[in-house]
Amino acid sequence: MTISSLTDTFTLNNGVKIPVIGFGTWQTPDGDVAYQSVLDALKAGYRHIDTAAAYGNEASVGRAIKDSGIPREELFVTSKLWNDSHSFEAAKIALDKSLQLLGLDYLDLYLIHWPNPLINRRNWDKANAETWRYMEDANTDGKIRAIGISNFQIEHVEALLKTATIAPMVNQLFVNPSDLEKDIVAFNNEHNILTEAYSPLGTGSLLEVPQINDIATKYNKSAAQVLVRWSLQHGFLPLPKSTHAERIEQNADVFDFALTDEEMTALDQLEGVAGTHQDASQADF
Ligand SMILES: NC(=O)c1ccc[n+]([C@@H]2O[C@H](COP(=O)([O-])OP(=O)(O)OC[C@H]3O[C@@H](n4cnc5c(N)ncnc54)[C@H](OP(=O)(O)O)[C@@H]3O)[C@@H](O)[C@H]2O)c1
Repeated sequence: MTISSLTDTFTLNNGVKIPVIGFGTWQTPDGDVAYQSVLDALKAGYRHIDTAAAYGNEASVGRAIKDSGIPREELFVTSKLWNDSHSFEAAKIALDKSLQLLGLDYLDLYLIHWPNPLINRRNWDKANAETWRYMEDANTDGKIRAIGISNFQIEHVEALLKTATIAPMVNQLFVNPSDLEKDIVAFNNEHNILTEAYSPLGTGSLLEVPQINDIATKYNKSAAQVLVRWSLQHGFLPLPKSTHAERIEQNADVFDFALTDEEMTALDQLEGVAGTHQDASQADF
């Protein structure tokens, strides 16, 4: 598939179309910064916004969406269910709260943020199964157009699939040239689950890597643009974040060049360059 603009889409396994680059909002403070950066992103042409209950900025994200004047059906809004809400009832309350803060009637995508938070690390499989049952209901009712997971490794997805009647459409993971996550990405592909690449710039840590900058110089592009391109060319959906208008625009200006196969391979060989990412499923929260 040739991707040529921010409004091009991937098609999820339930037929829902999702714009190929999402705008990230983690660590973007609630209030003016979140409001302005989302507004800047929408002005730059992004139509896909990635937030989460845990980011604490859903109200400002929602205000920017409303003030942008862009018709709701042209936007794709994702939020995520936090670790304190892994049950049927708690998930219902959490989704309603996110919708209320965002000022929306429905979400385009809702994700279980982490598979096995400390609070239920001993019974995470049962907790996810129950949570998922609510997400399936909300999906069927049209409150969420697509449902998915985040930070799930193979064992977590396999456990979920034992009781799921609707398979996840998305698995959002830490994926960039420093951390290829080959096994879970292959598993996602086998199961027709789209891999969303979070921290595509390594939360900024990859931007000074010489090999990435050498490729960027060749195309008169920035390291950030090379990294977004790398994600797209792997078939991932990147979620770059910035709070600066010129960077927000820059990160979306990636449709006028393409990395060669040799450059993709060279970038793949940077695994570990930004340090080893903590095994997400063992996270200390
Ligand atoms: N599901 C999960 O558990 C999870 C976890 C982490 C992230 N995510 C999602 O993925 C999104 C992206 O990941 P991320 O926030 O870790 O970071 P990222 O997008 O990999 O990198 C963002 C960092 O790079 C800087 N930056 C962005 N564009 C730049 C450019 N063109 N030139 C120079 N610096 C630039 C930003 O600074 P400024 O903002 O100051 O411009 C920020 O410090 C998040 O915002 C969130 O939506 C999800």
